Amino acid sequence: MNGRITISDLLEAKRNGRTIAAVSCYDYTTARQVSQAGADMIIVGDSAAQLVFGFDSTLPATMEIMVALTAAVRRGAPNVYLVADMPFLSYQIGVGEAIRNAGRFLVEAGAQMVKIEATGAHLDTIRAVSDAGIAVMAHIGIRPQRISAVGRLRAEATTAEVAMQLIDLAGQMGDAGAGALLIEGAAAEVAQVITKRTDLPVISCGSGPACDGQVLVAPDILGLTEGKLPKFSKAYGDLGPRSVESFRAYTDEVKARRFPDDEHSYHMKPGELQRLTELLGRQS
Ligand code: KIV
Repeated sequence: MNGRITISDLLEAKRNGRTIAAVSCYDYTTARQVSQAGADMIIVGDSAAQLVFGFDSTLPATMEIMVALTAAVRRGAPNVYLVADMPFLSYQIGVGEAIRNAGRFLVEAGAQMVKIEATGAHLDTIRAVSDAGIAVMAHIGIRPQRISAVGRLRAEATTAEVAMQLIDLAGQMGDAGAGALLIEGAAAEVAQVITKRTDLPVISCGSGPACDGQVLVAPDILGLTEGKLPKFSKAYGDLGPRSVESFRAYTDEVKARRFPDDEHSYHMKPGELQRLTELLGRQS
């Protein structure tokens, strides 16, 4: 694809059965690499609260943080389809506030779509934000912003009754004006039914192979995440240990005074050292 990827490209990808590759990342340098690697979409996820800021949930992500990260990602990846995650309390308080916050991502950060973790209670919000001309990705299935209410995040739609509820919810999101769906941590069979039933692009985060696209968070892909990854995630690199090795090599050289060496130091212009010595001599 030439130029910036748009929603039309994603819809065409769905129609032609071309899978959409998406990455959740949070900074300029990583965004450049994701774009160079040929990904179609970047979602600047509120998982930044955990993976950039070290909190134990996504709840502390704020609008200021998310707008700044999204703008940085846009600068690194001018042509990918860019989705910004609406953080906790940026859309729950009122529809007006949701529209204003969603609009900030488009105007101040260059996002093309906002993602809202949605229950049936958010249908009015999805409708109002999309009626305001802002494309919305409805995030259903596991919704990490619900951690306070549910206590623990676990796979969704693993029973027929809950599967029916998720399938209905997906339909309602489309009817309310969502432009795309993201299904997190749901049974693959159920994600497949939803994907088949809708014309919207459906991105899976841990919801099996049948969706129109896949997303994982960049630190998992790169092997930077410490500890066991969730069942659905996969490390494609081992940058964690390799980064520690690089920092260790640097630290050792600094401590041993081997860095910086002559090659990594600036020097005065010819003759200037002698002049400086004279000037210093006159001072004493
Ligand atoms: O916060 C996040 O990284 C997400 C991903 C599922 C895209 O929501």
